[in-house]
Amino acid sequence: MKVSKKVVGVEYAIRDIVLAARKVEQKGMQVDYLNIGDPVQFGFQPPNNVKQALINAINNGDNFYSSSEGLLELRQEIAKKENAKGLCITADDILITNGVSEGLDMVISSIVEEGDEVLLPGPYYPPYASYVRLHGGVPVEFGVDLNNSTPDIDDIKSKITSKTVAICLISPNNPTGVVFNENSLKELVDIANEHDLYIICDEIYDQIIFDDKFVGIGKVARDSPVIILNGFSKVHLMSGWRIGYIAFNQSPQLKELREHLPKLARVRIATSLPVQYAALESLRGPQDYIHDFISEIKKHRDLVVKRLNEMPGLSCPNPKGAFYAFPKIEDDRFGNDKEFVTKLLEQKGVLTVHGSGFGEQYGRGHFRLVYLPNLKVLDSAMDKIQEFVSQ
Ligand SMILES: Cc1ncc(COP(=O)(O)O)c(C=O)c1O
Repeated sequence: MKVSKKVVGVEYAIRDIVLAARKVEQKGMQVDYLNIGDPVQFGFQPPNNVKQALINAINNGDNFYSSSEGLLELRQEIAKKENAKGLCITADDILITNGVSEGLDMVISSIVEEGDEVLLPGPYYPPYASYVRLHGGVPVEFGVDLNNSTPDIDDIKSKITSKTVAICLISPNNPTGVVFNENSLKELVDIANEHDLYIICDEIYDQIIFDDKFVGIGKVARDSPVIILNGFSKVHLMSGWRIGYIAFNQSPQLKELREHLPKLARVRIATSLPVQYAALESLRGPQDYIHDFISEIKKHRDLVVKRLNEMPGLSCPNPKGAFYAFPKIEDDRFGNDKEFVTKLLEQKGVLTVHGSGFGEQYGRGHFRLVYLPNLKVLDSAMDKIQEFVSQ
């Protein structure tokens, strides 16, 4: 039977690569999984008060469909959080989704038509390109200086055409850990204004920041049309519970989108109500678990970046946020980045993701690794990578 060309083209390198790791394990080799950005799989659990809130909601009988836009108290709490980052919104400006992933699908399907172009930071988190393609659009990557964390403004200008409808920003970025500063965000907003583009900004790693201060798009956007995507999978350690949100700013240019996009929230009915109560508790309850998590993974980052930069043929910019390192493979002794990653897996049992899986143009020649495992596992994985590149 026939399947659509659109679905045949969908790829997700971060999970696709796991099939290769399983084969290596079947041969009896132990694999260090440095491919998936899920803190919970590496032992960082949501705190007990948040787990208890989920259990309480179930026991209290909150096991029915929630409203499509989501629990009012949760949306109010999210509005407070976003306003502290620079927006000026209320619960009415928020839609609760099954993770950023669902929010992204809703946003892209609401604004992209056949042939429309969407600007993505190169390299980017793969679902951005997948959803754009799935909805008939064309992802267009723009350059980012990974050492200075700055977008290449001239490159962006040269890539805007009459078909460009939106610019996506991911800050802190997956896979690079790049965080855009206030000045860069202002420049990006100016370009978007000049060309009437939607600004879609993914801030899922907003509190996972090590050196600089985080600046939200809301602080600089004024009334440009901004759609923020955020969620509870990373900072709040609730990845498996699947909850996130879309926040709209007060831009008059969003009027039509805001009339139509919520219909998509209604057709998919709702997100899990008990999980929404847990998310509410994660915002209202003590926040020290977030601080503990970040100070722990900062140690991981420092170890990994130091070790990678000491290895022959690799160089690694310092990630300023999130939990990924994105080293550059300086020579082609191992073939392209996919071959590098495959050989590293087969010879040393270390699973990373090839950079071209995050966009061919700017991702190739790199690989991504997740530094969430404990320091002992990371140090041993670094030894294995060192042996591999030193041969
Ligand atoms: C930038 C970015 N956005 C969204 C997601 C997925 O978010 P969610 O679990 O809320 O669907 C990820 C997960 O790795 C990510 O890196």
